[in-house]
Amino acid sequence: MLILGIESSCDETAAAVVADGRRVLSSVVATQFELHAAYGGVVPELAARRHLENILPVVQGALDQAGVTQNYLDGLAVTQGPGLIGALVIGMAVAKVLAYTLKRPLTGVHHLQAHILAAFLTETPPGFPFVALVVSGGHTNLYLVRDFLDMQLLGRSRDDAAGEAFDKVAKLLRLGYPGGVQIEALAGSGNPEAYHLPRPRIPEEPLTFSFSGLKTAVAVQLKKDPRILEDPAAQADLAASFQEAVVESLTRRAWLALTQTGCRRLVVSGGVAANRRLRQCLQGHSRETGVQLFLPPLSLCTDNAAMVAALGYHRLRAGELLSLDADVFSRG
Ligand code: KG4
Ligand code: ZN
Repeated sequence: MLILGIESSCDETAAAVVADGRRVLSSVVATQFELHAAYGGVVPELAARRHLENILPVVQGALDQAGVTQNYLDGLAVTQGPGLIGALVIGMAVAKVLAYTLKRPLTGVHHLQAHILAAFLTETPPGFPFVALVVSGGHTNLYLVRDFLDMQLLGRSRDDAAGEAFDKVAKLLRLGYPGGVQIEALAGSGNPEAYHLPRPRIPEEPLTFSFSGLKTAVAVQLKKDPRILEDPAAQADLAASFQEAVVESLTRRAWLALTQTGCRRLVVSGGVAANRRLRQCLQGHSRETGVQLFLPPLSLCTDNAAMVAALGYHRLRAGELLSLDADVFSRG
């Protein structure tokens, strides 16, 4: 079964052709980093317009790369939300038109659940059940995954998402966009113990994340000592200390969720899962505890449409179809 996936929820226009929810025949991603860099974050209106320019060439690119024409497709899957409304609408409109003209079934996919399916596009997919940690620019969610279509939310961030914290702290440190990549590069030469930053915990909600206090602590440190911004070594120390606090917070809760659910498998995905320090820390914990860790390669962790096609395959098989008057959603 060949599925075309379409993704346009934020600042990446992506399309992919995936066979049987497992084999990636093509995956094309057009990023918009340079468009938003000057603003230090994604400008929704600009993102939507760029999606409009890119979407048809990206879809055609995915078909060409897979060596198929539209007629070979068995179904289509599109990200329905959460994301930027103006951006989602572009992918949705194209997916509907293709499904209508080709007379193929269409399904809508939850972006964060799709991130989890990236783990099934590797040589060694996880068995069920498992805990999944999805760390993206807009969300930090922990799930108990019992099956492809049975995902229970265990915890989320009560304020900023982990990726958002990376992006905001990068801005405070006057680094470029996207922030995660820049902080990771700078942190490589810094001392993670140089600054003592908070690791907020909510005792009555142990699986709830909170990152806004951490961002504020970095801002307070910079206000107290503005010379940090002129001193590359101090800047690297602060970046490394911040990164360490995020990594610790993510790792601690992921293992708590494993203990609470009794699961021995962990999937970590989403843009922040591309962070090398996080991957290293997760791998260390996995070795120590014997928990099986599933970390998709970097290109599948960040936004792509192969993960959308993978989840779409299971939804289509289950008969979860999208009607042609379906809307997109921004939250959820
Ligand atoms: O999943 P994703 O590609 O898009 C969303 O669905 O949001 O995640 C983007 C987020 C951004 O906040 C970006 O700063 C962060 O992932 N990110 C990273 C790294 N690469 C991307 N954060 C930390 N380290 C990285 N290497
Ligand atoms: Zn994402």
